[in-house]
Amino acid sequence: MHIHSRIPALRAALKNRGRVVFVPTMGNLHAGHISLMREARAHGDTVVASIFVNRLQFGPHEDFDQYPRTFEADCEKLEAAGVDVLFAPTEADLYPEPQGYFIEPPAIQNVLDGEFRPGHFRGVATVVAKLFNCVQPQAALFGKKDYQQLMVIRNMARQLALPIDIIGGETVRAEDGLALSSRNGYLSAAERAEAPRLYRLLTGIRATIRSGERDYAALEAKAAAELADAGWQTDYVSLRQQSDLAPPQDRNAPLVVLAASRLGTTRLIDNIEI
Ligand code: PAF
Repeated sequence: MHIHSRIPALRAALKNRGRVVFVPTMGNLHAGHISLMREARAHGDTVVASIFVNRLQFGPHEDFDQYPRTFEADCEKLEAAGVDVLFAPTEADLYPEPQGYFIEPPAIQNVLDGEFRPGHFRGVATVVAKLFNCVQPQAALFGKKDYQQLMVIRNMARQLALPIDIIGGETVRAEDGLALSSRNGYLSAAERAEAPRLYRLLTGIRATIRSGERDYAALEAKAAAELADAGWQTDYVSLRQQSDLAPPQDRNAPLVVLAASRLGTTRLIDNIEI
């Protein structure tokens, strides 16, 4: 695996490499990332990963400084997964001057996670657009665990006519159902034992809807109450249309249930399509 931190060297290395497939990450890689890397191989000739903890997408009181940085271990995992090129810019490489131009997503950036993390999706869209310009891939993969992020990036690519196929990868879970996330490492042993409740609740909602229930507000409220009883602080449990993340309007629209809730100081998000 070739590792580049400089944009010109990266671009030179990616010339004549056929169809380039890109998997951007913030590092601290787990099996969810690695499954995206392996899937990427099926979509092109050269697999490029990036590791960059993007300051722009963290709020002032969020975990930018604490975010786990595990570069050596990440490189070993990427190498084992058959990644061809790693782009690992420093902040000075990617933001040599204060970023003054931004990608401003539309209203979708202000709902669900965007309501609780103002500016987050603007920071994500901006860095992803910039990474796309550095790597110039023909396809890019993003995990469905960050469902809203995947939609923001898909819409950005479509509206800006970026010649990049955006591909969603399935969420990878621990045996007890907890969605893999770099932030799971913040959980204490007791919190880790409690954490799978979130997925159990989501699968319970899916089963109830499949059996004919249509009182979505009641289902959302019941799930939030159960989380509160178990000591969680919930930002949202919300049923939305898969197509645009709007509240369900059409009875037959495919739905997704999304949740964000805090266990101690760790904010976990998850979702499942129904
Ligand atoms: O999902 C992530 O890890 C990040 O939001 C991304 C897409 C790498 C942008 O920093």
